[in-house]
Amino acid sequence: MSRQLFWSSRDDQMNASGLFFANRKLKLPMNVKVSSAPAANWMGHWLIVPISENPLLNSHLEALDQESGGLLTRLRESGDLPTKAGSLLHVKGVTGLGASRLLLVGLGAPDVLSTQSLDRALTAAFRSLTDKPNLDVGVVVPPAAMLGSKTPLEFVSAAVTAANVGSVGQDLYRTERARHPLASLHIISTENIASAIERGTILGEAINLTRELVNRPAQEVNPVTVADRCSALAVEYGLTCEIFDVPRLEAERMHSMLAVAKGSAVPARMVKLDYRGAKGSSSHVALVGKGVTFDSGGLSLKPTDGMLTMKCDMAGAATVLGAIVAIARLELPVNVTAYLGLVENMVSGTSYKLGDILTARNGVTIEVLNTDAEGRLVLADVLCYAVDQGAEKIVDLATLTGACVVALGEEVAGVFSNHDDWSGQVISAAKAVGEDMWPLPIWDLYDDLIKGDVGDIKNTGGRWGGAITAAKFLQRFVGGKPWVHLDIAGPAFQSSAKAWREAGATGYGVRTLVQLAESSVIDR
Ligand code: BES
Ligand code: MN
Ligand code: ZN
Repeated sequence: MSRQLFWSSRDDQMNASGLFFANRKLKLPMNVKVSSAPAANWMGHWLIVPISENPLLNSHLEALDQESGGLLTRLRESGDLPTKAGSLLHVKGVTGLGASRLLLVGLGAPDVLSTQSLDRALTAAFRSLTDKPNLDVGVVVPPAAMLGSKTPLEFVSAAVTAANVGSVGQDLYRTERARHPLASLHIISTENIASAIERGTILGEAINLTRELVNRPAQEVNPVTVADRCSALAVEYGLTCEIFDVPRLEAERMHSMLAVAKGSAVPARMVKLDYRGAKGSSSHVALVGKGVTFDSGGLSLKPTDGMLTMKCDMAGAATVLGAIVAIARLELPVNVTAYLGLVENMVSGTSYKLGDILTARNGVTIEVLNTDAEGRLVLADVLCYAVDQGAEKIVDLATLTGACVVALGEEVAGVFSNHDDWSGQVISAAKAVGEDMWPLPIWDLYDDLIKGDVGDIKNTGGRWGGAITAAKFLQRFVGGKPWVHLDIAGPAFQSSAKAWREAGATGYGVRTLVQLAESSVIDR
């Protein structure tokens, strides 16, 4: 099957295309049902049964144990029950139950059960099944006593999110898929769990939207196609969408961002998406995302190894998009505006050059010392624009520096902020959803490192403290507003799989942003 590509370098042709991604299939939402019959009677391919440490057999497992002729008791006696958080045991050929296959999932001790360990255990469970197509999977909802500080409703949401995330891989273009959607998911419960299912679905689909955009290659995902996708999603979910083309970006004096796009055949775009859930209030929070749809490094060209994964350099933009879609679908009573700064950083006769002096929207002049430090040039103008639109607080997400990955490793985002309260709220939200992030300082002493000789500031700060000098650069464009910068260069995209997640795009950050909105710290 030949895959049609449909961007062109001419603005007028692109908006007419109305197409997004060449082989984007209409995806049906997961078929989720509630089953109020006893778990022992549930019929389907796999029954997922959570197991916790002490007491080894909770009362809710007794019926399963009895009907299966003491299977669980025997496993416990032989020391084979997977009680450790995230451990799995697949048992086939089970007799006496409606389902002939059990997937036992360890949750660990209830008093230390965290959102992160619950999510990871459940996602690992689903991932271990979704290599086969067309499965009907049931999930036993454990009693509150097994869940520590979590509630059964939170368990249901987590399970539905895990089923969504764990059944989609990065194998978007493989003839034989490695992951398959479930035929159906049955939550075994007699409670009213409809809203927990809805929440879990919305979050899982948002994470998958972010992952899909990041996993698709730059031959499809470029500033124009991302903007098109945004406008389609805005129609679908009732967001206001404004797309800034090159003439508009010029009129808005966004010459720092525009310089980065100069070498590309695809023009720059900025997308602004508004969600207004707090009626009667105009104050809003801005979510700003770095959307470099491919980062070749420009004339400061990256070597092959460094360039290989640079389709991921728009993860910040994809994350704010996923988050605002989820926030809108959840109808949260908050006002949020997402800004996606979309460019491709390429090499050509029209590329911006080392030594160029750029004038950003706020008049700050920037010396280009390295065209590979392009993310900050994009964010500079977008942050300025967000401030000028009256954003009360700002969070930006960017795959900004390799230095941040050196500092914190591949799994942890760096947090940089000019405002302790606001960063405290972001960090609390991240903690609540189990996304690891850690603060680094942006003290004045670092200012010297980016001081310009010819212009006001330089776009690189030399060898040391690279994640911090990048953040110091951004700080020049937030006009003193409460601002948090999350450097997600590590966690956004992973080179290898873990039991609880696929390799490639992770969707890191979507949960934190939705939680931030939900915890109503983003207020009127
Ligand atoms: N997009 C990269 C940062 C990156 C590195 C993201 C690894 C994900 C994984 C960014 O634009 C970049 O190239 N940064 C340079 C900055 C340097 C030239 C000052 C870097 O980190 O080397
Ligand atoms: Mn770069
Ligand atoms: Zn980059």
